[in-house]
Amino acid sequence: MRLSGHAVEVVYLIAAICFILALKGLSSPRTARRGNLIGAVGAVVALVAVFAAKSSDFDHVPAILVAIGVGAVIAVPAARRVQMTQMPQLVALFNGVGGGAAALVALLELAAYSQTAGARHDLLNQAAIAFTVLVGSVSFSGSVVTFAKLQEIMTTRPVILPGAAPLLLAGLAVSAGLGTGVYATANPVLGVLLMIAALTVGVMIVLPVGGADVPIVISLLNAFTGLTVAAGGLVLQNTLLLVAGTLVGASGTILTRLMAAAMGRPVTGVMFGALRGGSTAGSTAVSDRPVRTAGPEDVAVLLAYARKVVVVPGYGLAVAQAQHTVRELAEVLEARGIEVLYGIHPVAGRMPGHMNVLLAEANVPYESLKEMDEVNPEFATTDVVLVVGANDVVNPAAKTSPGAPIYGMPILEVSGAQQVIFLKRSMRPGFAGIENELLFDPKTSLLFGDAKDSLTKVLGAVKDL
Ligand code: TAP
Repeated sequence: MRLSGHAVEVVYLIAAICFILALKGLSSPRTARRGNLIGAVGAVVALVAVFAAKSSDFDHVPAILVAIGVGAVIAVPAARRVQMTQMPQLVALFNGVGGGAAALVALLELAAYSQTAGARHDLLNQAAIAFTVLVGSVSFSGSVVTFAKLQEIMTTRPVILPGAAPLLLAGLAVSAGLGTGVYATANPVLGVLLMIAALTVGVMIVLPVGGADVPIVISLLNAFTGLTVAAGGLVLQNTLLLVAGTLVGASGTILTRLMAAAMGRPVTGVMFGALRGGSTAGSTAVSDRPVRTAGPEDVAVLLAYARKVVVVPGYGLAVAQAQHTVRELAEVLEARGIEVLYGIHPVAGRMPGHMNVLLAEANVPYESLKEMDEVNPEFATTDVVLVVGANDVVNPAAKTSPGAPIYGMPILEVSGAQQVIFLKRSMRPGFAGIENELLFDPKTSLLFGDAKDSLTKVLGAVKDL
């Protein structure tokens, strides 16, 4: 059955509604799975409509099907196998590929279009093509660099090449000039040059970004890809691409702003801070200064005789998969009449909402999860803070060391509590690569070891008391 133009638009509308419902569902861990499913259904519906449309005039259906098959064979196992802690890399890669694909489609459209451009000089279309090639290419190469940083294929520290700032400005100027050229002349050779310049700019923008800020950049590049896809919708005169791209662009922009606010810095500071001579400090050196260590039994005693305990989870909780054990420990403490809260920093872990997702998976009650602003005033009346695999999000350097990569980021003020216990494996620093003075504070004790092993031992010791 072939669908008429009107029928296709109706199906696109249904798919667009699915995408909006998907975003709504994804806004909470409880409904995220359903949201994801609704989005996937919308994508399948849209794909079927494209093939079924009467106006679809595909020359290469077998090649298209093979390409879809190859993509699925690569992407499905990759998405199934990926650890939750590696999700940002995967998102960066998928996002970059989307931007790159949109840029290539626009380039091909330009090549086809330039044959007939004399006959129908459509400046809006040419502007959309120039925009798609420019922003899609920046998104692709920038995402590849963020992937390499998060995967630790390259250093996560800011990389500042000699003359980086003037080179970036020059790259932007050349790209803008070439983009204007494509807009004015629809010349495909200028389109190819624009793509090369924009790919270079993407690399130059992301190289100086420090590891702790990479998540914000991923989100920003995600928004870029959305805008590229929306512009692609204009080029291909496809309503659904326009709607879906705009949704991704808008939600990516909102997420970028929220994350930048959580890190206490403007988005421009994240992108260009290091080039302006901002925060580049950071060291992965492991300190040999003395610290106070504690055994599982000591920690158990501190916890069991407290009145109020705040658990601060971080990336290490995810690595150790200790969420179930921490919930069990909290339940045993609560059974002893102790108040237990969880202090959740917005960028704890490696993706937005990482800690909420993990703790929801372990059935930790929502009421016990306290966002940063809510929990910070609680520390003054807290007896023990149990920091489980977190570091940067409690590091006072964010307030005291203007050169630190996390300087300006609001933190969980755990030092206000009576006692602080860190569960970590070594003296290695966190993601931002900077030492944490709190580890050397007289009120701090360290229980070294994998967080799950340590918590299991502490849990056993509390039960024995
Ligand atoms: P980090 O500062 O990275 O600290 C994680 C801590 O966990 C480290 O001290 C590490 O010490 C410990 N650890 C790792 N594996 C462990 C295990 N199996 N058992 C016990 N401890 C373990 O984490 P954070 O405090 O959650 O801060 C997040 C950082 O990641 C921020 O800098 C943030 O900007 C960045 N980031 C965030 C996101 C988002 S959106 N959430 C995305 C990417 C990056 P040992 O190695 O000594 O054990």
